[in-house]
Amino acid sequence: MSKQSHTHRFLFCLFVFILGAASFVSSKSTIEPCSNSDSCNALVGYTLYTDLKVSQVASLFQVDPISLLTANAIDISYPDVENHILPAKLFLKIPITCSCVDGIRKSVSTRYKTRPADTLSLIADSVYSGLVSADQIREANSVSDPSVLDVGQILTVPLPCTCFNSSDNNLPAVYLSYVVRPMDTLAGIAAGYSTTLTDLMNVNAMGVPSIGAGDIIAVPIPACASNFPKSSADFGLAVPNGSYAITAGHCVQCSCGPGNLNLYCQPASLAVSCSSMQCKSSNLMVGNVTAQPSGGGCNVNSCTYGGIVNGSIVATLSSTLQPRCPGPHQFPPLIAPTDLTVRDSLFAPAPAPSQEGVTPKNPGSVILPGAGLGPGGLSPANGPTGSISAAPLVIPLSRYQSGILLLGVLVVLTTY
Ligand SMILES: *[C@@H]1O[C@H](CO)[C@@H](O)[C@H](O)[C@H]1NC(C)=O
Ligand SMILES: *[C@@H]1O[C@H](CO)[C@@H](O)[C@H](O)[C@H]1NC(C)=O
Ligand SMILES: *[C@@H]1O[C@H](CO)[C@@H](O)[C@H](O)[C@H]1NC(C)=O
Ligand SMILES: *[C@@H]1O[C@H](CO)[C@@H](O)[C@H](O)[C@H]1NC(C)=O
Repeated sequence: MSKQSHTHRFLFCLFVFILGAASFVSSKSTIEPCSNSDSCNALVGYTLYTDLKVSQVASLFQVDPISLLTANAIDISYPDVENHILPAKLFLKIPITCSCVDGIRKSVSTRYKTRPADTLSLIADSVYSGLVSADQIREANSVSDPSVLDVGQILTVPLPCTCFNSSDNNLPAVYLSYVVRPMDTLAGIAAGYSTTLTDLMNVNAMGVPSIGAGDIIAVPIPACASNFPKSSADFGLAVPNGSYAITAGHCVQCSCGPGNLNLYCQPASLAVSCSSMQCKSSNLMVGNVTAQPSGGGCNVNSCTYGGIVNGSIVATLSSTLQPRCPGPHQFPPLIAPTDLTVRDSLFAPAPAPSQEGVTPKNPGSVILPGAGLGPGGLSPANGPTGSISAAPLVIPLSRYQSGILLLGVLVVLTTY
């Protein structure tokens, strides 16, 4: 072995060691390398630090309040729903858009306007519920003295974002960036999101199933994929199972699940001044399906939404012969905003994790993995924290040191 490769191996080990050591005092997060500039859909798991209006949560993340509600299957037909007050500690999935910056998937920057008494750690740990660290905000904004924040200062808040090609094991998926809570176990999180421990470990490139409070892991949620043309403004839309998405300028509402993972779109209830949603040479509208039993099975005609191209809604008519006629379309159950309650998961009598904290609109029906407290609380044991992960995708990020360490390692590498 050449001297050079020895040196490189030594440096690599040193690098892994330093990062490993750093992880004993810090949290890890999953980083996704990327090469093209395509943007993609993702979710971040957010826990409200105080009672907030729907519109206030939406403005923290600069997302459309309606999209925020539909992503959590919250009924938007409730009067004045954007001003409805959501309770502190409620867990929500926030739909965000990821882009590719410097070879890493990052959120399209969220901005926060500072208020009196704000500190970077308050903003990071409380307002954004640990989705970002004080250090990451400091670095993103080149804050030289974190003790001096001007009131009304606009800060960029870099949020975790992972898409992994919007697929998991070759099936469509949307990834949720989940902040690990003290009592969480990886197995509990896997169970809460109907995935497996192995899958979570693979996605997050973990050698051992150990997590620590504050780590951010990527959780794949099965989704319904769209196949809109590339020229479509909502190209790549993927809707997580059990939820809804609003698209085409609030004209079209798409849903996913519960019975299958076929995207189903129809005119949105709040559709106003929308382009025609009728399929050409038919009287069917987007979302309409007609079924006609025939000798060989069932003739099914459907008018489906095909994206928004040049400001116009694409409506495509298709006719297929199916073995059986489809029944009426099943929708993911909606939750009334007034039914969003938070229970203390530590003391609650171990409900299925994804059902914690949410009362469904129709008691007895299937509950979606929508809003409510995050998963966990299944097992009181917590894995050992601060393990070393040498896998390529997971970089242990010290909240205080990783930037400096990486810089140091780079300097060492370049001097060789
Ligand atoms: C991305 O996912 C699509 C299917 O969703 C698949 O055909 C393609 O091969 C994947 N690309 C990569 C790089 O994994
Ligand atoms: C077609 O869809 C529209 C809008 O969703 C709905 O109002 C209408 O009842 C549907 N028609 C049929 C025949 O299903
Ligand atoms: C959309 O508009 C562009 C020019 O503005 C045109 O080149 C393109 O063909 C249009 N696409 C469709 C599908 O109509
Ligand atoms: C989708 O969610 C429903 C419950 O909301 C569940 O029964 C179903 O198994 C899920 N489908 C997949 C593929 O995860």
